[in-house]
Amino acid sequence: MNVAPHAEMDFILYVTLCYKRRIMNWRDDYQSKLVTAKEAVSKIKSGDRVVMAHAIAEPKALIDAMVDNAGNYMDVELVCMINMGASRFCEPEYKTNFRLNSLFVGPRVRKAVAEGRADYTPVFFHEIPELIKAQLVPDVTLLQLSPPNEHGYCSFGVSVDYTSTAALECPGLNIAQINKEMPRTMGSYIHVSELDYIVECDQPLIELSPPVIGEVEAAIGQNIASLINDGDCLQLGIGSIPDAVLAGLKGKKDLGVYTEMFSDGVVDLVEAGVITNKRKNFRKGKMVATFLMGTKKLYDFVDDNPQVEMLPVNLVNDPRIACQNDNLVAINACVQVDLQGQVVSDSVGLRQISGVGGQVDFVRAANMSKGGRAIVAMPATTKGTSKIVPFIHEGAAVTTSRNDVSYVVTEFGIAKLKGKTLRERAKQLINIAHPDFREELKLEFEKRFHQSYS
Ligand code: COA
Repeated sequence: MNVAPHAEMDFILYVTLCYKRRIMNWRDDYQSKLVTAKEAVSKIKSGDRVVMAHAIAEPKALIDAMVDNAGNYMDVELVCMINMGASRFCEPEYKTNFRLNSLFVGPRVRKAVAEGRADYTPVFFHEIPELIKAQLVPDVTLLQLSPPNEHGYCSFGVSVDYTSTAALECPGLNIAQINKEMPRTMGSYIHVSELDYIVECDQPLIELSPPVIGEVEAAIGQNIASLINDGDCLQLGIGSIPDAVLAGLKGKKDLGVYTEMFSDGVVDLVEAGVITNKRKNFRKGKMVATFLMGTKKLYDFVDDNPQVEMLPVNLVNDPRIACQNDNLVAINACVQVDLQGQVVSDSVGLRQISGVGGQVDFVRAANMSKGGRAIVAMPATTKGTSKIVPFIHEGAAVTTSRNDVSYVVTEFGIAKLKGKTLRERAKQLINIAHPDFREELKLEFEKRFHQSYS
């Protein structure tokens, strides 16, 4: 029916009909947009910038089809945060077809970045949505979503972060893999009318096996637990340490969660009645996150669960917002800490091994939070070398500044840095280094501070 707004009444009728058409016809709209993965990726053109959903929400069917179609493209820029899939687009044979602009260099793409076939852009996680709107504007956004609900809204599932901004606030085509395995998390949705092409493909989500918690990790977890009070609100970083910390918190009461991401360890503590979110002063009763990585146990837990609120990263991680949580404790892992308390978390020398992610967002938020604390944790050694060092590796980037750290924790104890002099913090850090390396650190202390260490 052709309804034109000739007169005021006609106009009201027109708007009403359009509105009803959207509400009533989303199912037809959905059907009309259904294509195969191959047809969908044929909409990508040489020179396009393609923003891809990341981590567990990486749309595998679309990415596989895109790589299989590589011969039809030149110089496609792929923008993505954590790549969890096969990442074939980074292989040398595709170097003229694709170039990854990685916003967090995960293990799958480290080699390509090191060998110059892919790039890394340093950026705070909370600023990525703005970066995408202002500079990395997508020609195409590839998504993986839950099937629509009765009103035609798909959930962003386990990954809202920058994906919702790319899809809802930027020009360009939205191509979505609709996957029945994607949990319908609450907080962030996209209507079928916002999608351009839809590919139905049900695939099990990638699962991240829970990290092995050995003696070292368990000791770190216990040390951190001694810094956490009942009622605190936790942010947990990425890696094996956060889950070890959670395992050490079984005796606490009424903890809250406001974090960039969480994993299976949180589910155990909710089920044990330790995490209740009752004493949170900000988004009380809710666990807030922007993406999730874990096993099916986690994905089932967050499905249709109103306790869990999944929001865009510019809302979750912005320190000005996150700091509204009183007693916010940020717990993050790192690669190296020098004797001044400078923290390296995303590079080993010049080699980029991850990204800043939300570490600095939450370290700053914790510092601004009433009663907040920023904890950096690590095993004292890696592959036979000390992670507490006089000088960081040549070429390494400082992720978290020495001014921002409240505590550094290893399996040997806790170093309190906040408010301490350079001399005091060096001493505290040597005390928590592995005993095999303390003597050489003490020599450096004596050279630096012109006094004996004792
Ligand atoms: N010297 C040399 N290599 C080191 C090192 C050091 N001091 N510290 C770590 N590495 C190497 C490890 O050997 C490992 O190498 P491999 O993969 O070749 O075996 C690699 O760096 C990763 O270290 P690992 O200890 O296995 O990492 P993890 O999974 O526990 O994660 C971080 C630790 C620091 C990499 C991770 O927490 C991170 O990326 N942090 C930055 C972002 C962040 O904190 N975000 C917060 C919320 S998402």
